[in-house]
Amino acid sequence: MILDPASMDATACYKILIGSIVPRAIGWVSTVSADGVANLAPFSFFTAVCRKPPMVSLTIQPKSDRVTLKDTLVNIRETGGFVTNLVTLPLADAMHHSSMEHPPEADEFELAGLTKSACDLVSAPRVREAPVSMECRLDRIIPIGEVGDHVVFGEVVRFHVRDDIYLDSGRIDTVGLHPVGRLAAEYTLVENIFTCPVEPEVVVSRQGRRMARLDGKPADWSQIAQPGWTGSGNALKG
Ligand SMILES: Cc1cc2nc3c(=O)[nH]c(=O)nc-3n(C[C@H](O)[C@H](O)[C@H](O)COP(=O)(O)O)c2cc1C
Repeated sequence: MILDPASMDATACYKILIGSIVPRAIGWVSTVSADGVANLAPFSFFTAVCRKPPMVSLTIQPKSDRVTLKDTLVNIRETGGFVTNLVTLPLADAMHHSSMEHPPEADEFELAGLTKSACDLVSAPRVREAPVSMECRLDRIIPIGEVGDHVVFGEVVRFHVRDDIYLDSGRIDTVGLHPVGRLAAEYTLVENIFTCPVEPEVVVSRQGRRMARLDGKPADWSQIAQPGWTGSGNALKG
């Protein structure tokens, strides 16, 4: 199959991108509005972009009406800061809940039953329950493409790492984390680890296997095929 993006609309391109760039890290971003309302939302167009100073980027689409800016973008622009929080399995439901389209005056920490911890250098609170949080100072916002997306670059000015996952060697105890990633519009639990070269028996033993589902749904069930899926990234209820 050869697909030409020039003849595809944004949603069609998005389906291919999110189905093939997998698994994606999830930056669970906390912000605060100029009026002091805390906000929380996950972003999987999220990655590390620079080592020194440490920097991350997010790409933020418009809301499902395809025009209105998401609260996260408005808040980052107004306050110049944000926090990325790491999502682990016990936090997955709260993260999912925080991605539903809530009005700007809704405090998503309260709706998701999470605890706010004050940050050192940015006005946004962090998620106390998250094992790693990064306080970020806005570096720049770049409007990109033809459908209202914006790339946000932030400089990490503080790392908060839970003591039990910070090793003496200065690295994170990744195997103890149970991080959650994004697959198309579903999630994956990162729960195995390997190094290369991979033993041929391992490759053979996995050939043709479908992924195991933790949600009991049929193997080929897809969130994208459900009525109501908009391509704006918002979670659907249920
Ligand atoms: C796991 C996950 C990843 C998401 N990634 C993105 C993303 O990269 N960019 C985006 O614009 N929306 C993304 N969304 C949707 C936003 O989280 C959602 O639109 C949210 O309501 C935005 O909230 P806000 O208006 O409070 O900023 C994602 C949703 C989920 C569940």
